[in-house]
Amino acid sequence: MDALLKVDTGYSVKNRKLKKWVQEIAALCQPSRVHWCDGSDQESEWLLNQMVENGPLIRLNPLKRPHSFLARSNPSDVARVEERTFICCQKKEDAGPTNNWMDPGEAKSTLLKLFKGSMRGRTLFVIPFSMGPLGSHIAQIGVEISDSPYVAASMKIMTRMGKAVVDQLGEHDDFVPCLHSVGEPIISAKDDVSWPCDREHLYICHFPETKEIWSYGSGYGGNALLGKKCFALRIASTMGKREGWLAEHMLILGVQSPEGEKKYVAAAFPSACGKTNFAMLIPPESLGGWKVTTIGDDIAWIKPKPDGTLHAINPEAGLFGVAPGTSELTNPNAIKMLKKNCIFTNVALTGDGDVWWEGLTERPPAKLFDWQGKEWKPGDDRKAAHPNSRFTVSMEQCPSLDPEWDNPEGVPISAFIFGGRRASVMPLVLESFNWVHGVYMAATLGSETTAAAAGKVGEVRRDPMAMLPFCGYHMGDYFAHWLKMGTLIKNPPHVFCINWFRKDKNGDFLWPGFGENMRVLKWIFGRTGGTASAVQTPIGWMPSYEDLDWSGIKFKRERFNELMSIDNELWPHELELHGELFSKLAGRLPMQLELMREMLRLSFVS
Ligand code: OXD
Ligand code: MN
Repeated sequence: MDALLKVDTGYSVKNRKLKKWVQEIAALCQPSRVHWCDGSDQESEWLLNQMVENGPLIRLNPLKRPHSFLARSNPSDVARVEERTFICCQKKEDAGPTNNWMDPGEAKSTLLKLFKGSMRGRTLFVIPFSMGPLGSHIAQIGVEISDSPYVAASMKIMTRMGKAVVDQLGEHDDFVPCLHSVGEPIISAKDDVSWPCDREHLYICHFPETKEIWSYGSGYGGNALLGKKCFALRIASTMGKREGWLAEHMLILGVQSPEGEKKYVAAAFPSACGKTNFAMLIPPESLGGWKVTTIGDDIAWIKPKPDGTLHAINPEAGLFGVAPGTSELTNPNAIKMLKKNCIFTNVALTGDGDVWWEGLTERPPAKLFDWQGKEWKPGDDRKAAHPNSRFTVSMEQCPSLDPEWDNPEGVPISAFIFGGRRASVMPLVLESFNWVHGVYMAATLGSETTAAAAGKVGEVRRDPMAMLPFCGYHMGDYFAHWLKMGTLIKNPPHVFCINWFRKDKNGDFLWPGFGENMRVLKWIFGRTGGTASAVQTPIGWMPSYEDLDWSGIKFKRERFNELMSIDNELWPHELELHGELFSKLAGRLPMQLELMREMLRLSFVS
């Protein structure tokens, strides 16, 4: 067996626990080969070339999109699957009513049967990765075993991956084993399909007590790149609760004033609500020299420091962004970032070997191949790119990358921003009265669902802290943890709610969004430094028309008033709906939040 383990490692592995685990999994899954990923560029070339030869990847035209690839998934394997995502802790009540639960013993025995022989005919890749800068006291190490070369190549982009991680781990036992199989062994040549998966037996299981992840049946995104949602959010959130830190579904960005003052904010939005666009925002020139820099677009790990501040890192090293809607208008930095060295998944292919997706250009090219490779022309009644099609690209290519993005100490956080997608009710921006009210606002965040969640598009669901699909434990305990964090730090960050998506009576968006969001960010920046004023309302502090900087645009006062209006009829109903979420969590809901709801409710009683 040792001989098998040495195949293709090219480096020595001292860690006994790791070697033993790989041995056990190889014996269980029966791959034809074992490859220990070293994380080198040559290895990545080898993986990509192999996928071009065997089908799952198409090499894009090097003159248009150098060193970039298009992957087409199985049409049934296109998104995270929340209904097959399980938290497997000993007691069902610890997973809470917002998670699917499975008994850990039962989950393991079901999955062991599936994993048995599941890698026959395939290569088992051992993928050591660090979430966060190597050696950072906030970072954590994981090792993913996967039979998907697409996963291995993507993990090289999305994490710090390879031999350096094994060296960093040394002989410590402290790594999170992440087991993944697409679940389609090659028994005869006909089984060698380009995107293997087993949608009949899909399981994405998390074992928070033993810090393990077992995922079977899907090769797509968050189901398969286990460092991302599975480790960096579901498992890490439980670690954060035990150890006194936060693992959040948040982008991190830097804001610098024309005078050179710099602050960092972390912002949570539900999936596919424009987080990547916000993380890379380009401020309008008319605002006079403001700068936004990017640390991360999806996940933040945030720890208190002895000096009483909160510091955050981006545990990831790449972007796995939603392609549709990304354009020169919505996110010019992303368009620059995607010029080369990308893996696109399920976007459309142009006749000259480039990529296209809805929203990239105003008018689609005359002829395309849709995300399944079928011919497509403008006017066809189906999308050319899948709504959850993605790009995978290294952070290093981000034009607005913050110089501190790789700092192992992280960056100090001055404000938390929570954004929902609400056509009504929620104003453009709102600051909480205090930390408890901030936690309340975050806990009651609501949003219309999107394709990434694989639910019914357009439905409003409560998405506390944008963590509904990602919190690895009981949501009531999670709120309590947030409340407690406020007491552990000297000056808790200010908390804001924003809503870029409010509509007028005709169904048109009231706020232009994108670069103009800088106007709101400028006000937030000012609030954290005590230099911007605000008016008190029953639901929090809000800017008056004069408090926002309108230089360079004409935005009518009446429109602003509509955008900021607090509807005395809708709000009592909204607070009722908060009550519905709270009653689901009864028994573990912190009393402070119920009292806060009562206080808000009373302010609407005339
Ligand atoms: C994502 C998501 O992919 O939130 O980032 O679904
Ligand atoms: Mn996300």
